[in-house]
Amino acid sequence: MSADSSVQIRPARSISGAVTLPGDKSISHRYAMLAAIADGTTRLENFSTGADCASTLKCLQDLGVEWERRGNSVVIHGRGLKLQAPSIPLDCGNSGSTMRMLSGILAGQEFSSELIGDESLSRRPMARIITPLRQMGARISAADGGRPPLRISGGNLKAIDYQMPIASAQVKSALLFAGLFASGETRVEERVRTRDHGELALRAFGAEVHQDGKLARITGGQKLHAIDATIPGDISSAAFFLCAAALFSGSQLILRGLGLNPTRSYLLDLLTGMGVRISVTQLEEKHGELVGTVQVAGAELRGATIRSPQTEMLIDEIPVLAAIAPYTADGVEIRDARELRIKESDRVAAIASNLRAMGADIEQYEDGLKIPGGQRLHGAEVDSFGDHRIAMAFAVAALRAEGETSIRTADAAIISYPGFYAVLEELVQQ
Ligand code: S3P
Repeated sequence: MSADSSVQIRPARSISGAVTLPGDKSISHRYAMLAAIADGTTRLENFSTGADCASTLKCLQDLGVEWERRGNSVVIHGRGLKLQAPSIPLDCGNSGSTMRMLSGILAGQEFSSELIGDESLSRRPMARIITPLRQMGARISAADGGRPPLRISGGNLKAIDYQMPIASAQVKSALLFAGLFASGETRVEERVRTRDHGELALRAFGAEVHQDGKLARITGGQKLHAIDATIPGDISSAAFFLCAAALFSGSQLILRGLGLNPTRSYLLDLLTGMGVRISVTQLEEKHGELVGTVQVAGAELRGATIRSPQTEMLIDEIPVLAAIAPYTADGVEIRDARELRIKESDRVAAIASNLRAMGADIEQYEDGLKIPGGQRLHGAEVDSFGDHRIAMAFAVAALRAEGETSIRTADAAIISYPGFYAVLEELVQQ
């Protein structure tokens, strides 16, 4: 990310227009990985345009998987369950999803591989996958404190019965993917329900996965078959436009082909509770994932309190919810959000620092933030902290501030949404 990629955002009067979002990042990673180990050729339309999913595709290429990409269409030639030993370290870039979920597949491969990442990813905790994958029989070493780089020697896995100590869909998917290669039935139980894209993707590719409340089970040795799919629009990217629209009573926004998986769409319920008018039409199911058109009209925003299990359901939307919180009538309190401190940046600290720079009064806790409502913010120089969701969240906060806001290292947005600023500019009415 270049240090001088500042973006300037001026105040807006409202948001209006229609958008189709790039493909969901979580689903794109999973479909690409499963396509690689499926029999046959998978065709994916509306694949995520973000750099994170490009990191997944590059790693797969280094594992002997052939694919072609034309714009948002990706064709992946599956190799069946056996990948090829890589001759170079697998570079996951900024993508925790790539490193954690791919580790599940590499744990099942009878070769050694090394996974590396950028500076931010190199600080992120991997013990959460190392511990259970070692229990399954993989040999994994990591840097001090269970950080990347990871070295994995896989093969000969046995199923485990695992109670997840932390809520993480990446860990759950990694273990279910490893379960494909294990003898016996792998059982993964969550404390708090997280997104179920991994379970749905495995089923879409033909595996039998049992879901019973917070327990998912998969039996090893199953073969996957290729699919043709259109990936739903990313609701976590849509969140920036939804929250931007929510800030102005005159807003009218339409989001087409949006992913509405119930484990991801709590934002719509929350915003509705805060007074935003939202309607959903043209609802359909594609490979187990719900997709629909969402229409949003802005309103006077009430406040909200977000705690577990809602915190986990909103984990990627919290930066933008916090960024609009000062403009709500009653403020927003976010708790049980310790995980936010170990994302691409310490998001709690990043939000606090940027909101304060814009003149907001806020309280920071170890596990969250309390942001009083009814505040007036002023334009300021803020920072993305190299984190895509912080960059985009503060582009939204800037729309209701007085004066211009400058976001440093704003190109961090390319991680999940390269076209973000251009689309925002089209939607903004000044
Ligand atoms: C993701 C799960 C979440 C989320 C991340 C994507 C996924 O991470 O924050 O952006 O695709 O499973 P955790 O698994 O660390 O909670």
